[in-house]
Amino acid sequence: MDDMTVLKRKAGADMVLILILVLLVLYIVWQRWELSRFGVTSYEVRSPKLRRSASAAVIADLHGFSYGKENKRLLEQVKNMEPQVIFIPGDLLVSKYADTYDRALETLKELIKIAPVYYSYGNHESRLRDPERINHPLFLQYLKQAEALGVQIMETESREISLGENQVMLSALELELDYYEKGGIPPMEAAYMQQHLKLQREELFQILLAHNPAYAESYAKWGADVTFCGHNHGGLIRIPGIGSLISPQLTLFPKYDAGKFQIGNRCVIVSRGLGTHTFHVRIFNRAELLEINFLPE
Ligand SMILES: [Fe+2]
Repeated sequence: MDDMTVLKRKAGADMVLILILVLLVLYIVWQRWELSRFGVTSYEVRSPKLRRSASAAVIADLHGFSYGKENKRLLEQVKNMEPQVIFIPGDLLVSKYADTYDRALETLKELIKIAPVYYSYGNHESRLRDPERINHPLFLQYLKQAEALGVQIMETESREISLGENQVMLSALELELDYYEKGGIPPMEAAYMQQHLKLQREELFQILLAHNPAYAESYAKWGADVTFCGHNHGGLIRIPGIGSLISPQLTLFPKYDAGKFQIGNRCVIVSRGLGTHTFHVRIFNRAELLEINFLPE
């Protein structure tokens, strides 16, 4: 090989390396930009059990994120939507990072000024029930502070609430941590839902907050007219036309990844979530705040 060929090859290799570095920098800049933004997705939920229209905001998987100082951008958006109720189906914090508790509380403090807030547990909250966890005492304090602000914290239970001018039944389901195990979706027994959460006053419109969307069919079968889920974060990476690539439980192409799923005459709405943790990646999968318009049928 002559000197000229060696030089040409070296220049070629340098070009490839520079190109990879440029692409890497562009990717990092794009991801930082992407992670600092969220969109609003609106859904209509119709039911003959509703007498009047009403609206709600759903904030899933915020994970201690802040859009602007003290979450100003998110709070302004929620305020502009004028929701009559705010639902939080879990994972408002990151269990191992105590600073996310403070940010979650700051956000709750402002949300409660907009509308009544109903907050049910995600796997991050459930994990902190364990007294062996280093952040357990801090979590108890967090719950106390949230309740003192007026936030309605719901474990596995049902409450009759006002949704605008409608009386509806709001239920929350906290799943055992086994149902979040990585590597597969443990089956849920047919009687599980009814055993843990007895369906009350079936004649009322039934709303369920259930963090994990993997059991969407069980929620609908149980009797939830609409279920609000999160947990999947839209699958981190979404392929246009196909959907989520992988779930947090490391299952490929999860069925209930994001969006509205009709199951018979009931529906399950899965949010792509507002925050991330551990893997701060969102590709074709912008964070979202949900706006729900409830309409009589
Ligand atoms: Fe989660």
